[in-house]
Amino acid sequence: MNTRWQPSSWRTRPVKHMPSDYPDAQALARVEGELSGLPPLVFAGEARALKDRLASVAEGRAFLLQGGDCAESFKEFSSDNIRDAFRLILQMAVVLTFAGRKPVVKVGRIAGQFAKPRSADFETLEGVTLPSYRGDNINGMDFEAATRTPDPERLLRAYHQSSATLNLLRAFASGGYADLYNMRRWTLGFGSDDAYGARYQDLADKISEALAFMEAVGITPETHPQLSRVEMFTSHEALLLNFEQAMTRQDQETGEFYDTSAHMLWIGERTRQLDGAHIEFARGISNPIGLKCGPTLEPDELLRLIEVLNPGNQAGRLTLIGRFGADRVGARLPLLMRATRDAGARVVWSIDPMHGNTLKAANGYKTRPFDRILTEVRTFIDVAEAEGVHPGGVHLEMTGQNVTECLGGAQALTEDDLMSRYHTHCDPRLNNSQALELAFLVAERLRALNASRSQAA
Ligand code: PEP
Ligand code: CO
Repeated sequence: MNTRWQPSSWRTRPVKHMPSDYPDAQALARVEGELSGLPPLVFAGEARALKDRLASVAEGRAFLLQGGDCAESFKEFSSDNIRDAFRLILQMAVVLTFAGRKPVVKVGRIAGQFAKPRSADFETLEGVTLPSYRGDNINGMDFEAATRTPDPERLLRAYHQSSATLNLLRAFASGGYADLYNMRRWTLGFGSDDAYGARYQDLADKISEALAFMEAVGITPETHPQLSRVEMFTSHEALLLNFEQAMTRQDQETGEFYDTSAHMLWIGERTRQLDGAHIEFARGISNPIGLKCGPTLEPDELLRLIEVLNPGNQAGRLTLIGRFGADRVGARLPLLMRATRDAGARVVWSIDPMHGNTLKAANGYKTRPFDRILTEVRTFIDVAEAEGVHPGGVHLEMTGQNVTECLGGAQALTEDDLMSRYHTHCDPRLNNSQALELAFLVAERLRALNASRSQAA
């Protein structure tokens, strides 16, 4: 790993889960060239700000909420969807901040989360075999030969969609929508029979009272602008390295390289090989990096990955995202947490309770039971407590839309409900009410942890 790094050095390494069947290599190279001349989507300074926030998480002083679509799509691109995703993150962050008494670092899986690793390169339907769908920036979902053929023009469309999405997110974050005094306006998304919506209204009332008190003693949005704006960061899986390389720029100020396609990039469970292309790319960019840690990851391998990705042991650089499944997290996570703790690795530990809990319903729909998702998060916090590690965050697939993709929750969605609003382009997401419910239940558990830790102190 000691060879010199360049934005293109990943090309000399074994590559997994990327399309190898672009029919026109020249067209791909032309698009890469065009992308490398387009404006950055985020700035190096913003990525550094996120690293600072994540350093606070690593030190136990903040909590990370990372979430959004499994895969963004061209079809579901609309200002309403972006607003709803933003609003859901805000609502969950308020719930978690109020209970945990710690700042919540907000990172969307948004404005660039298009490319997907697939379990099989090909899909066969009624005797016809075509390349698998790999995400809207690579090919299309419809089962037709032309649509499934990778098309580099899609990368440009994804870039422009990401740019428009970020533009709106920035406006929501600082243009008044995120004003805590507006908290009631964020509740418009709830039905009247929504139990957790009602709890959220109660919380909004409490916060409004606190704000009125603070105003009386002189703390207002004029004196404290953070009351009226939020920091919202973006992230996606650094999977399609042609795109990530084209978006990588050298920062004038520091001379470091940043992948300007998002503030944070993560490496997926299927592409984290030590000698592979994805780790090679990630080690050279200075953005905060996430690393998915699944049930087959051994502690010594994790320590080697940490050495490659964060040789300076910089807090905030590396976020480890466990994704084991409710039935395996209790056996696997303690080994990994002990290893990072004993090695003094300054990392954020977060949990993705989605990807290890996917199953196929009897009617063929890919789904995830809310109970298993909740169990994995709770076990994560229990293990962290037992190991003396900060349970730093959650990583969720969720949407602000009222979809029916995951089972259970207070709405008690059943297998028969799945077909009514199953819209995801890849994996099943928590809907707005399931996600908010999860935030409340996780917040309760974090509050109990705080209480027991402050008693012990
Ligand atoms: C994802 O986060 O969308 C994903 C594919 O996760 P994993 O790499 O953990 O399977
Ligand atoms: Co997914």
